[in-house]
Amino acid sequence: MTLKAFEILDKNGFTKPDGSWYELTSAIDKEEGSFLHSLIKQYQPKNTLEIGCAEGLSSMVICESIGSTGKHTIIDAFQSTDWSNHGIYNLKKAGFDNFTLIEERSELVLPQLLKEGKKYDFVFVDGWHTFDHVLVEFFYINNLLPVGGVVAFDDTGLTGINRVMRYISNYPNFECLGSVGDHPKTLKRRALTGMKKAVNAAFSPLGQRIKKELLNDTVLRTDKELKLNGTVTAFRKTAEDKRHWAWYEHF
Ligand SMILES: C[S@@+](CC[C@H](N)C(=O)[O-])C[C@H]1O[C@@H](n2cnc3c(N)ncnc32)[C@H](O)[C@@H]1O
Repeated sequence: MTLKAFEILDKNGFTKPDGSWYELTSAIDKEEGSFLHSLIKQYQPKNTLEIGCAEGLSSMVICESIGSTGKHTIIDAFQSTDWSNHGIYNLKKAGFDNFTLIEERSELVLPQLLKEGKKYDFVFVDGWHTFDHVLVEFFYINNLLPVGGVVAFDDTGLTGINRVMRYISNYPNFECLGSVGDHPKTLKRRALTGMKKAVNAAFSPLGQRIKKELLNDTVLRTDKELKLNGTVTAFRKTAEDKRHWAWYEHF
């Protein structure tokens, strides 16, 4: 499969309007782009939302995948200030006009979209990467997604984002569709995985409820068994959110 974004990714850069060369600094890779493309082809969203445009590579993948009848909304607080509008330049240069940019912080835009009664059937989250920020974004996205909608997150190998993925994995109304991309398999990571397995085995005579109270979730449930062992992870909303008012699950 060839997507217009892949031409830029293959060269790892593009020619700026002034004729000089710009090297990419912040973009999904081709495997991650193919994953977004395949999700869009499978679930056929028409109204999509994205947080974080930067140089425009993921936005290009989404705009091309939804086609000219689709409508893509991009939230990027710093497109003109930090990114010199490179993302918008790449989108326009590739011929896409099926997008709108909202240049404002996601934490301010998402509640506004909810208040306006907007719905998006595919959302890609790749903005500010702290645990609390991504969790706040997901709180709104859960309300902006119709049943059947899909949300995908970038950089899910980062500890903070991995913990948000674990929390979402517990939601009764979301199913994990899987992850792509490699977590770096460092010696430290492999040693830790071995130690976690040993600790889990040592605690196995105890019931699951007590183990949950005593042990970190990453000891109890591996990323692999939760399908979170990648750098881009997607979930599908399977039902309305009917959680009890004080619902909580360890993560
Ligand atoms: C990792 S880059 C996005 C890369 C892009 N998704 C891609 O793969 O081609 C992160 C982007 O998030 C934007 N950003 C950071 N904090 C934000 C916030 N609070 N609200 C909206 N956008 C934010 C930055 O300006 C930047 O463009």
